[in-house]
Amino acid sequence: MTNVLVVGSGAREHSLGWKISQSEHVDDVFYAPGNGGTKNNIPINVEQIEELVDFASKNDCFTVVGPEVPLALGIVDTFMEKNLKIFGPTQNAAKLESSKIWAKNFMDRNEIPTAKFKIFNEPDLAKEYIESVSFPLVIKADGLAAGKGVIVCDTTDEALSAVDKILVKKSFGEAGKRIVVEERIDGIEASYIALSDGETVIPLATSQDHKRIFDDDKGSNTGGMGAYSPTGAIDDVLAEKIQTKIIRKTVDSLKKEGIVFKGFLYAGVMIRDGEPYVLEFNARMGDPECQPMVIRMNSDLFEYLTAVTDGNLSSLPSMSWKKQSAVCVVLASNGYPESYLKNEEITGLSDIPKDSFVFHAGTKDVSGKIVTNGGRVLSVTSLGDSLQDAISNTYKAAEKISWPSKYYRHDIGKKGLSYL
Ligand code: AMP
Ligand code: GLY
Repeated sequence: MTNVLVVGSGAREHSLGWKISQSEHVDDVFYAPGNGGTKNNIPINVEQIEELVDFASKNDCFTVVGPEVPLALGIVDTFMEKNLKIFGPTQNAAKLESSKIWAKNFMDRNEIPTAKFKIFNEPDLAKEYIESVSFPLVIKADGLAAGKGVIVCDTTDEALSAVDKILVKKSFGEAGKRIVVEERIDGIEASYIALSDGETVIPLATSQDHKRIFDDDKGSNTGGMGAYSPTGAIDDVLAEKIQTKIIRKTVDSLKKEGIVFKGFLYAGVMIRDGEPYVLEFNARMGDPECQPMVIRMNSDLFEYLTAVTDGNLSSLPSMSWKKQSAVCVVLASNGYPESYLKNEEITGLSDIPKDSFVFHAGTKDVSGKIVTNGGRVLSVTSLGDSLQDAISNTYKAAEKISWPSKYYRHDIGKKGLSYL
């Protein structure tokens, strides 16, 4: 038996901890820093690595890292140096996510399918290139920018102003010192996430996120406004292609380059004419993809996480999933992903039907009252015998919850119905 420390404060971390706490191998689950929905919160932020080391070693914890920032800071390397057990990739392996330029060059030299691209640090050269091409473009800041550093452009003018925003006005600071200018691929976007210990790969269930803020995929990109699992966008043939041409190839190529990838490997893919292209890699679970996935998972997640860390994932069978569908709708505060109000009281949390789950993100507990404390506030997640049932169950639960500036998309899962 062991304790577990979950690092992070989002709905992804709440749902991971919820699932891990059901394992017969686990005593207590702690969250650093957690949120208004998690118990056993430790007031340590995700960047305070020395403090996290200290807590984990004093409390005999296996540590699970949720978000990308501590991974990019090297939390896993530090824990390993102290002989503490931790789940997640090392700083070098996390470069797949923390530097888009590193990831693009890696894919290029290893023939992993991705959009054509060029790299710039001089605005004038970037603009000259943009004016010379005839296809639509996406402009990306190199470093971590909380999902906001990517600008999908419809026109040359939009691409030129994206260059100004990132390279001239430095809207993303150091993360935007260099940019990737890449071909825009139009198709169906889906998330493919696998566990790897650097040798063996075990895929998780398929899912699809909804990145834009407004219904029908309008408006700016967000961290994700809702997700469902499984998705008909990825059938068995396509899953096999993603597995061999992208996931397996990435783990093996990293190994050839001296990097052992242990953790969740997330490929955001665009499917065009039946072929998958990598839009981005993440070195962690998706948020909100994690929430519908964990409520479908029959397997003991903790056993898989420890097997990854110990390098013996090959000893485990593939994961078992409920046949049912699951849908997650993110309840946000109006104004997200820009500015929004905080400290509004949330009501209705005790009226949620039994087969729905509310995972917290931007919430805090103020003397027993739950108030808003972030842009993405709650992840309402439900199972259903069909995707349509899961959608209906989730929206029924979502409507029970209120606060003055509550905002959510009304079309989560709708695209999924069209693939059936
Ligand atoms: P990223 O953080 O790189 O995944 O980009 C955020 C979002 O921008 C993705 O989820 C896609 O919706 C979109 N996107 C990124 N790259 C491309 C591309 N090459 N073509 C079309 N859409 C893209
Ligand atoms: N939902 C997208 C992400 O986690 O990056």
